[in-house]
Amino acid sequence: MDAFLLLNPLFCFLTAASFLAWFALKRRRTNQQQRVQPPSPPRLPILGNLHQLSALIHRSFHALGAKYGPVMLLHFGSRPVIIIQSSAAAAKIMKAHDLVFSDKPTTRTLRQLFYNHKNLFIAPYGEYWRKLKSICVLQLLSPKRVQSFRFIREEEIAICFEKIKACCSCSSPVNLSELFTSFTNDMTCRASCGKKYSEGEDGRRFVRLLTELMQLGGRVNVGDFVPWLWWIDRMTGFDRRVDRVAKEVDEFLEMVIQDHLNSRGLEIGETGHGNHEDSVVRVLLNVYRDNTIDRDSIKAIVLDMIVGGTETTAAALEWTMTELLKHPNVMNKLKCEVRAILKDKNHTISITNDDLEQMHYLRAVVKETLRLHPPIALLARVARQDVEVMGYGIPAGTMALINAWAVGRDPATWDEPDTFKPERFIGSSIDFKGVDFELIPFGAGRRRCPGIGFAMAGVELLLANLIHKFEWELPRSEDSDATEQPGSVTARKNPLFAVATVAQF
Ligand code: HEM
Repeated sequence: MDAFLLLNPLFCFLTAASFLAWFALKRRRTNQQQRVQPPSPPRLPILGNLHQLSALIHRSFHALGAKYGPVMLLHFGSRPVIIIQSSAAAAKIMKAHDLVFSDKPTTRTLRQLFYNHKNLFIAPYGEYWRKLKSICVLQLLSPKRVQSFRFIREEEIAICFEKIKACCSCSSPVNLSELFTSFTNDMTCRASCGKKYSEGEDGRRFVRLLTELMQLGGRVNVGDFVPWLWWIDRMTGFDRRVDRVAKEVDEFLEMVIQDHLNSRGLEIGETGHGNHEDSVVRVLLNVYRDNTIDRDSIKAIVLDMIVGGTETTAAALEWTMTELLKHPNVMNKLKCEVRAILKDKNHTISITNDDLEQMHYLRAVVKETLRLHPPIALLARVARQDVEVMGYGIPAGTMALINAWAVGRDPATWDEPDTFKPERFIGSSIDFKGVDFELIPFGAGRRRCPGIGFAMAGVELLLANLIHKFEWELPRSEDSDATEQPGSVTARKNPLFAVATVAQF
């Protein structure tokens, strides 16, 4: 070989670069071939594993997990999805690799309903999401602001009492499911929009729209997982329905914003105490004026609060009362605790945060309920890059579904996992704030729920009051059926009825 060529630096550089590129390519191919995949049930050509899933998808995963283990690979159509069903594996996704798994999967429907990803729930991880999350955590749902909404909770609890007393006086059972839904709906609406929109023509329309939005958003469509079958959603009229609901929700939220702009500084709360100055919309309008967010962002965040805070909190209340009614011994123990602390405090307004802090058994009851019945059973994430989880190679773009329902029933963590036993939390430091991966009803890591304080303030105050002021039992006709309703929030399929009598002190 010509000595000149050998010494030519450009030639040497090119040779070295080609060799490195060849080596990197070879290594990548070998890695891909050697990537160990999680165990996976056999699948069908077009559907993948979709045919193995029932409407209660978290239960199907749990059943498959008994055979394939806590990390398994399924295919939704052509899309690979890893299913995570133990606390150790959940910690890998939401702690060790939290940044890698900080994106959320989305669908065409969600994009249309939530302002093209401008809400916090599905916004991709990045600058915009970080800005929104900090507004939410520091301004909209901070402990101080949650405390400032206390008068709303008190007024709404007083309304619940009136409804319960009306049932007592005509000896009819109370529809607790309905009561909890209107309580959480009105509480969240007043905090977000400055007044409640559940009454009158506009209110009824909004409640109907929200129900429809939840149904559409929670639906799994073939077109989302088998892209070439997109036309089915158009043929069935689904796409038209989504367009209509998105348009009507937008008109409604525009009206809420306009209401705020028209009533600047005026007290217009429906009960005479509400004030637009306190509301989430008002705070967001101030941020908007600083040009930090746009008008669609305001509407998307308000929608997040209402959608994220209403059904979830109502389901938590509904499941807690379901378990208490099924376990009279737990109900009695709770009654003793609550009544010993509150004694003759007969008005909600006199129950202090210190009183609630002392109710350790109440807190244990709520934790145990959320362990067995997390309102959002599946936490969804997407891998932003290739990653190794528990020895398995997970390629970028893979969806991860963490089954919070199964994690709460993992026999490796929980003794007698299917038994309702609040005592397990007495003297235990395990909490649901996202640090202990055995109990993740609010998720964990960067995408953790920012509404824990808001939700728990309402749940604890209402439960303490219900137990303090009334005696509760199941109607004679009612068996303790507690079948779940399929959907994005796991609530009871049939409404919960209970007979109330005013407690005698
Ligand atoms: C018992 C009631 C509630 C439960 C069980 C619940 C549960 C959850 C869960 C599981 C997540 C996903 C977390 C993850 O993927 O790691 C979440 C996210 C979220 N929740 Fe809640 N939530 C509740 C109440 C609320 C309330 C009251 C609000 C607001 C008023 C709220 C607003 C949100 C928002 C905005 C997100 C998205 C956070 C993000 O992606 O960064 N939630 N919630």
